[in-house]
Amino acid sequence: MRFIVCENYDELSQKAAEFVSAQIILKPDCNLGLATGSTPIGMYQKLVDMNIDFSNVTTFNLDEYYPIARSNNQSYHYFMTEHLYSKVNLKPENIFIPNGETDTPTEECKQYEKSIAEHGGLDLQVLGIGQNGHIGFNEPSEALNSFTHITQLTQNTIEANSRFFKNIDEVPTQALTMGIATIMRAKRILLLASGKEKARVVHALQGNMIDPEIPATILAAHNDVTVIADKAALDT
Ligand code: PGA
Repeated sequence: MRFIVCENYDELSQKAAEFVSAQIILKPDCNLGLATGSTPIGMYQKLVDMNIDFSNVTTFNLDEYYPIARSNNQSYHYFMTEHLYSKVNLKPENIFIPNGETDTPTEECKQYEKSIAEHGGLDLQVLGIGQNGHIGFNEPSEALNSFTHITQLTQNTIEANSRFFKNIDEVPTQALTMGIATIMRAKRILLLASGKEKARVVHALQGNMIDPEIPATILAAHNDVTVIADKAALDT
């Protein structure tokens, strides 16, 4: 696992955007796995400013709340439209995100996993990291060999994400998420961590030991992981 240390969030966002744009330049028809949350917002902004050509890129998002309407301003579909889809030349048919409106979530997850495989797998997966060490919505103690599935959010995640909702009761309690196995199949992984709330779990990543209570530590078993972190996230 390679660590790139940044002074602050702006530098982290710049380095992350450069990393992703290098992937697109290297392989213009790449399959990108994308993340939501507050951490990658700066990276998306920089990618938009760099005028990167997304015309042949296909994107697969990590997760979506369940159930949630796409039009809900807290859905990840809404988030991605606001921060990326509406601002770059991605083709609508090349955009994939789990459907939080489905009545058949298990089938949706199966299809989602199949789509990734049919497209040839993910060339680069971008990840944030939860305060509890989750990646996607793979929460502590969940199986480490899972593919895309429906999952129950932990109280810690519901509380952490309630800052985006009017009140905590509005936070969905479930999500559709790529599994750890889906993520581990990506050829390359880029994990972004910003802020002191992440210091505990980033410290665990540095230890290079797999701990099922901190799902991101599974990345120690992947051969191409880059972590871009700001100093606050590295300050233990
Ligand atoms: P954050 O979320 O970027 O908003 O901190 C990260 C995550 O929960 O994966």
